[in-house]
Amino acid sequence: MGSTERAEFKNPVVSWIDERLPVFTLMQKEYGVFPTPRNFNYFWNFGAIAMFMLITMIVSGIVLAMHYTANTELSFDAVERIMRDVNGGWLLRYIHMNGASFFFVAVYIHIFRGMYYGSYKRPRELLWILGVAIFLLMMATAFIGYVLPWGQMSLWGATVITNLFSAIPLVGDSIVTLLWGGFSVDNPTLTRFFALHYLLPFVIFAVVFLHVWALHVTGSNNPLGLEPQSEKDTLPFHPYYTMKDSFGLVVFLIIYALFIFYMPNALGHRITTPRPTRW
Ligand code: HEM
Repeated sequence: MGSTERAEFKNPVVSWIDERLPVFTLMQKEYGVFPTPRNFNYFWNFGAIAMFMLITMIVSGIVLAMHYTANTELSFDAVERIMRDVNGGWLLRYIHMNGASFFFVAVYIHIFRGMYYGSYKRPRELLWILGVAIFLLMMATAFIGYVLPWGQMSLWGATVITNLFSAIPLVGDSIVTLLWGGFSVDNPTLTRFFALHYLLPFVIFAVVFLHVWALHVTGSNNPLGLEPQSEKDTLPFHPYYTMKDSFGLVVFLIIYALFIFYMPNALGHRITTPRPTRW
C-alpha cells in the first residue's frame, strides 16, 4: 500500500482520478494482480462469502429500519406490518433473518478452515485476533437484533443474556442497570439496543477492513501450510479467484434462497408442529 508506483489506465476519466487519488491503482494491486496461492481449495471462498453477507445484512437492515419503530408499544406491530403490508417487506425480513444464520454459517466455516490449516499462526496472528474481534461484535449484534421485534423470546432472551453480566464481581449489577437503562428490561433497553444494532455492523465493517488489510500484508495461507516460494506458486487474484469466489458465492446463494423462499422459519424458533385437530 505504501508504494508510489501507479498503474496505467486507458480510460481518461479513470486515469484523471487515479493521478489525483490512486484508488484504481490500489484496487489493481490488491484485487487485480495480487499474487495468490494457486492451490486454494473451496474453504478459501468463505471470506468473500462472509463479506457478501455482511453487505447484504447492512443493506437489508437499513431498509428494514425505515419501517421499524423502536418502542415497546409499537415494535411488535411494526414488524407484523412489515410482514403483511409493506411492499416486499416479508422478503426483506426473511433475507435479514435467514441472512443472519447464513452469515454465521459462512463465518464458522471460515474460522474452522483457519483452525484446520493453521492460518492463525505466525505471521497471521493479528489477522486472527482481528477475526476474533469481528466474531464477538457479530454475536453482540445478532443478540441485540433478536430483541428488536419485542416478542416473548426477545424479552426473555434480553432478560437472560443481560443478567449474565450480573455475575461479574462488584460492578456486575451496575453494568446490568446500565444495559437496561433502568431497573428492568423496558423501553430504554429497546431504544439503546436499536441504536447499537444500527451502529455495530459499521464497526464490524471497519474491523473487516483492517482484517483484509492485515491479510494483504502477509498474504494468504494455503492448504499446504507452506508459504509460496516463487511466482510459480501463485496466480493473479483476477480473474482466477474473482471467478472461483463468484462460483462459490452463487452455490451458497442458491442454498440461502431455498431457505428464504421455501422454509423461511426453519432456522427460527416458531412452533412448526401442526395444531392438533381435536382440542
Ligand atoms: C465479517 C466476518 C469476516 C469477513 C468478512 C472476513 C473476510 C476475510 C477475507 C475476505 C479473507 C480472505 C479470503 C479467505 O481466506 O477466505 C479472510 C481471511 C482470513 N480470515 Fe477472515 N473474515 C471474517 C471473520 C473472520 C473470523 C471470525 C476469523 C477468526 C476468528 C477470521 C480469520 C481469518 C484468517 C486467519 C484468514 C487468513 C486465512 C488464510 O490465509 O488461510 N476471519 N477473511
